[in-house]
Amino acid sequence: MNRRVYSDQKAFLEQNRELGTGLPYAEDVSVLGKTLAIGSHVAPNRLACQAMEGCDGKRNGAPDELTRRRYLRLAKGGAGVIWFEATACCHEGRANPRQLYLTKENADEFRTLLEEIRAVSMAENGYAPLIIMQNTHSGRYSKPEGTPAPLIAYNNPLFEKDKPIEPFRILSDEALDRVGEALVKSSRLAESVGFDGVDIKCCHRYLNSELLSAFEREGRYGGSFENRTRLLRESVEGSLATCGKDFIVTTRLNVYDGFPYPYGFGVKRDGSLEFDPEEPIRLLEVLRDLGVELVNVTMGNPYVNPHVNRPFAKGGYEAEEHPLQGVSRMLLGISDLKRAVPELKLLSSGLSYLGTVAPNVAAALIEEGGFDLAGFGRTVFAYPDFARDILKEGRMNPSNLCICCSKCTELMRGGSTPGCVIRDPLYRDLYQQKTAEKQV
Ligand SMILES: Cc1cc2nc3c(=O)[nH]c(=O)nc-3n(C[C@H](O)[C@H](O)[C@H](O)COP(=O)(O)O)c2cc1C
Repeated sequence: MNRRVYSDQKAFLEQNRELGTGLPYAEDVSVLGKTLAIGSHVAPNRLACQAMEGCDGKRNGAPDELTRRRYLRLAKGGAGVIWFEATACCHEGRANPRQLYLTKENADEFRTLLEEIRAVSMAENGYAPLIIMQNTHSGRYSKPEGTPAPLIAYNNPLFEKDKPIEPFRILSDEALDRVGEALVKSSRLAESVGFDGVDIKCCHRYLNSELLSAFEREGRYGGSFENRTRLLRESVEGSLATCGKDFIVTTRLNVYDGFPYPYGFGVKRDGSLEFDPEEPIRLLEVLRDLGVELVNVTMGNPYVNPHVNRPFAKGGYEAEEHPLQGVSRMLLGISDLKRAVPELKLLSSGLSYLGTVAPNVAAALIEEGGFDLAGFGRTVFAYPDFARDILKEGRMNPSNLCICCSKCTELMRGGSTPGCVIRDPLYRDLYQQKTAEKQV
């Protein structure tokens, strides 16, 4: 069956029926232009730029020229929420030497960028987006000097196979306590430079997310639900306690890892890969009771099962399932959680593969009470103006779509700066240069 991103409604409706993927479709997308109150803030519309790392910061962690270019393009584009990319809470938790890392020393450079984003959006659109910083420790995927330097919650034979990571790289309970302190400190810094909120990142199998499945770990961070969620809960509580009452504290949460028990969160305990919402719902209820109002929901591991995390037309392997099945797992899974914990506002992930029908599917799900904000990931690299076209024209331009070809990921995994190789000449040239270098 054809795996191309949709550029018309007919192809989508046919495949949705044939595959039984059950995604709803609305002709009227005007709900995407409605505001959404989050605490004392108001998102000017329901379209969100998901966190998308550019690996293009300075060595000291500050945003650099390419970072600025990316965010000013998004600011012009008019999305109501910008989920600012993974920003490390400590040097050893950086995923690459150019990952952003907010410190007291470079705080002014972040402050200036935020002022510019708001000014550009005000001038172009008449409003400023909500900007939330993703606060992270990369854990297993840490590479602060450009070579792997993993810091893990537990040994995972599914990922490590016959090369188990050395015991000294398993973080002790005391080391995890210090990560919690670093996350809270970064939340405070994020508030001081002018972010509207902070996301204690708990997704894609970085440190906090890996802990959710630390079923066999001993001590205060493993075993019971309470222990496995400790770092997330305590970092959220600490951030809420030390930041002002208007500051949004949220999390980007993996609710399904796609690995069998005891190595996956949100899966049945029968060794299958079936989604089990019991613990994710419990965790959402705990977060709600702590005072969290918004959660950005996602699934999968971009290194090991990217078809779960970012359903693709073309990638490093051919997934057994059709990409629309991956999109459906993500969007209908999020909707089930929203129905279980309706007081929480949820932001969705994984819309890019839907192409021009993404606004129609997102609008239908928002109208049905499936989620509150529609988050676009790879699309923001290919088509930074997507929100303006949806809001003004009621549709996306098929010539500007992300084609889900995985070349942005390829650039990133090759140690370069990711962007859209198909639609953005700057990254097309970079990709060609990298390919030529490999051939020499
Ligand atoms: C190059 C690249 C960088 C990404 N960076 C981040 C990131 O910093 N933080 C994060 O939570 N997810 C990150 N993601 C995942 C996206 O936010 C998103 O979840 C994923 O692409 C699926 O959404 P989509 O189908 O709309 O692309 C990244 C994805 C790609 C391809």
